[in-house]
Amino acid sequence: MSLPKVSVIGAGQVGSMVAEHIAIKELADVYLFDVVDGAAKGKSLDIMEGMPHWKSDSTLEGYTVGPNGENYENLKGSDIIVITAGMARKPGMSRDDLLYKNVDIVKSAAENVKKYSPNSMIIVVTNPMDIMTYTAYKIIKPEGNKIMGMGGTLDSGRFRTFVAKELGVSVEDVTAFVVGGHGDDMIPFVRYCSVGGIPLSDLLPKEKIDQIVARTRNGGGEIVSYLKTGSAYFAPGISVTVMVESIIKNRKRVITAPALLHGELGKYYGVDGFFVGVPVKIGKNGVEEIYKLNFLPEERKLWDISASHVKENVDKVNAYLHI
Ligand code: APR
Repeated sequence: MSLPKVSVIGAGQVGSMVAEHIAIKELADVYLFDVVDGAAKGKSLDIMEGMPHWKSDSTLEGYTVGPNGENYENLKGSDIIVITAGMARKPGMSRDDLLYKNVDIVKSAAENVKKYSPNSMIIVVTNPMDIMTYTAYKIIKPEGNKIMGMGGTLDSGRFRTFVAKELGVSVEDVTAFVVGGHGDDMIPFVRYCSVGGIPLSDLLPKEKIDQIVARTRNGGGEIVSYLKTGSAYFAPGISVTVMVESIIKNRKRVITAPALLHGELGKYYGVDGFFVGVPVKIGKNGVEEIYKLNFLPEERKLWDISASHVKENVDKVNAYLHI
């Protein structure tokens, strides 16, 4: 059976979830890569051995990558590469320490992507996601449509969940999305949220909506506060799979994702040459369209704050990488 090839760099919590979902849906053969000796191999075998029960012929392979890029040659021919490699903040580490540590990790992964599979579609998951997508972009230098971050799908899923639970309706009937940086100042876009076509503001009082917005923004933090060691990975794994599926099946899903903003559209968004979450159409050519949001003045203000925080980190990365 001939299936597309998806490589996942970083076989941790999120990476292995992504691999499992892709395999269950028989979207692709999956190749896992990790620095921890045997981790990618063990997890890929474990996932593959469950596939007979799902009637999926996806195959999985795992590779331990070395400090000099050992085994990365197996990225060759990937249709899509998902980068989840990174580390979580440890006690005593500042946000900046984490930023530079993950820049180093994503840079080394990206250098190997560039070397072995520069034409693949790339989805970046490592946090801070908008910045890590930018880092990978600067190293690999792919066409802008071929690289994107994952955040918006995850945040939108959280927003939809909380609205559905509050109203006691099916999640299927809630249309909602989140734009901006994938951080504390992300923007759940309330004005375009609807339930079976009815605007959310007709269904809930402002205070309730404000609570849902705050909970969505803190969705990742809420989960960390329960897990204590580690962060969310079930919904992130599903969110990546939604994007992979839309590319492989050319489904043209309209979701939000950190996409490269530049040119005329960049001018509209006040962003030049980096990635912030916006509504996009995802198909076989990656980001096939970026949609303009007709901001009201107060929405524009929120957007500018969020985009300027992403820009501060872009400047730090530029200085750190001398680019
Ligand atoms: N090359 C390949 N893999 C690496 C490298 C590297 N240079 N450095 C670290 N890794 C691997 C780790 O060994 C680990 O298995 O990346 C994996 C990260 O997995 P977890 O620590 O389990 O983290 P996870 O929960 O999967 O989150 C990964 O996604 O959502 C974001 O904030 C999250 O940045 C984090 C990333």
